[in-house]
Amino acid sequence: MFKTLCIAALSALTLSAGAASAAGAGGEIHDVDFSFEGPFGKFDQNQLQRGLKVYTEVCSACHGLRYVPLRTLADEGGPHFSADQVRAYAQNFEVFDPELDDFRTAKSSDHFPGSSLDNAPDLSLMAKARAGFHGPAGTGINQLFKGMGGPEYITAILTGYTGKTKEEAGVTLYENSAFPGGWIAMAPPLEDGMVDFDDEHDNSLHHMSEDTAAFLMWTAEPKMMARKQAGMAGVILLVLLSALLYLTNKRIWAPIKGKSKA
Ligand code: HEC
Repeated sequence: MFKTLCIAALSALTLSAGAASAAGAGGEIHDVDFSFEGPFGKFDQNQLQRGLKVYTEVCSACHGLRYVPLRTLADEGGPHFSADQVRAYAQNFEVFDPELDDFRTAKSSDHFPGSSLDNAPDLSLMAKARAGFHGPAGTGINQLFKGMGGPEYITAILTGYTGKTKEEAGVTLYENSAFPGGWIAMAPPLEDGMVDFDDEHDNSLHHMSEDTAAFLMWTAEPKMMARKQAGMAGVILLVLLSALLYLTNKRIWAPIKGKSKA
């Protein structure tokens, strides 16, 4: 039984390793130091606001964010806009209202619309759906230790175009050093200086890509900061409990230990 299990596990490992290498080109992803990484990491409110601007002006032409309620743009820990700003922002979008059986201007109580281009995937959860680099044999080690995850992958996709294109079955494909397989159907969406930020923040391709990736991390995990805080409180509580347990243990055994010494 044990032998069969071992053989099954081994063949599964070799198979998955084979599949990873068979993917060929693509998969070139570099680590980025995002502000939200590590146990004390926090979203950078200004960066999220810049990322939202890039999404609104560029990506939303094709991609939707249909799992993200517009009102959460006012949440603390997120882009943290005022309620009025969110109300004004919502008016950028048209949503389908089943009650009216027609489209109407969005309100803060609506979600972002879905993708308007059929083959462009919804981006709400993309930052959690993709990983940067799984580590040797897909073990997930690098994601755990270096925090290389979806945001790195998205940054790498946006900056990974080589400029080469090819036509396949009537579809233009663009060579991309990060996309698995090396060829993506999305034309390079961003270029240097494409979006202007109010505070004249660096709008090079690289910075805008990181800002967009950070924003998409927030849409995928808006409660990340609360989760980290709860985790930290849990660790502190456990340390306290361990100390108490240690002292109690000492006290309970003290009479017996004392005797053996005598
Ligand atoms: C002109 C339409 C268009 C625009 C604008 C656009 N995309 Fe895309 N995007 C696509 C299409 C089509 C795909 C599917 C490509 C494929 O599967 O080969 C895609 C795929 C993606 C993917 C998924 C890659 C994967 O692993 O499956 C990400 C991430 C992405 N786009 C991010 C963005 C971001 C961020 C922006 C804005 C800066 C953006 N896109 C702008 C059309 C667009």
